[in-house]
Amino acid sequence: MSTNIKQQNYQVTTADRANLLQHKSVVLWFTGLSGSGKSTLANAVEAKLATAGKLTYTLDGDNVRFGLNKDLSFTIEDRTENIRRISEVATLISNAGPIVLTAFISPLMKDRQQARDSIGTDKFIEVYIDCPIEECEKRDVKGLYQKARKGLIREFTGISSPYEAPLHPEIVVNTATMSLEDCVEKVITYLSPRINLD
Ligand code: PPS
Repeated sequence: MSTNIKQQNYQVTTADRANLLQHKSVVLWFTGLSGSGKSTLANAVEAKLATAGKLTYTLDGDNVRFGLNKDLSFTIEDRTENIRRISEVATLISNAGPIVLTAFISPLMKDRQQARDSIGTDKFIEVYIDCPIEECEKRDVKGLYQKARKGLIREFTGISSPYEAPLHPEIVVNTATMSLEDCVEKVITYLSPRINLD
């Protein structure tokens, strides 16, 4: 970190912005295997929140890796840096007011803990998309599992790179056994009382 730098305070606060928007901000952190349904669920939850007049913003693995994180690969080290940057960006957006939804595999417990610590335990809501790898592989929406099995993709999550399931997530949804509607409902039910102003 650079030396000779100093934190600045702002006259307009996060609480002022929450008052303007009439809702608090939280960060919904979706984690799960590739093909588990992170983006689908984040999208559906965001649509529901938008319909209810809440300001939202989604950060999604594939999209962020086209821009901000296009210099990062899928090594363990780069995944850690990916999640570190995302947690910083999620903090900035959340401080600006929107409810933030992040959809990243975020396979390592220690990286998700770092995200929780830097975003703040009062704001961080971990949503575990619990979907067996057999089901993700059966879906293989992007054809990536097939490529990984053939050895065409190295360090593929769940096959040749680890995924550490959360031990105490705030929300668990199983996209293999629950409908999308039920998954959305479970997230919204948890969320609603937490974004209301006191
Ligand atoms: S991570 O682990 O959090 O840094 O990954 P993330 O930024 O979410 O990116 C996951 C998407 O990248 C594609 N992809 C891979 N995933 C896993 N392992 C490897 N090696 C890999 N290579 C490319 C894949 O489309 C992931 O998207 P989802 O939506 O998870 O399927």
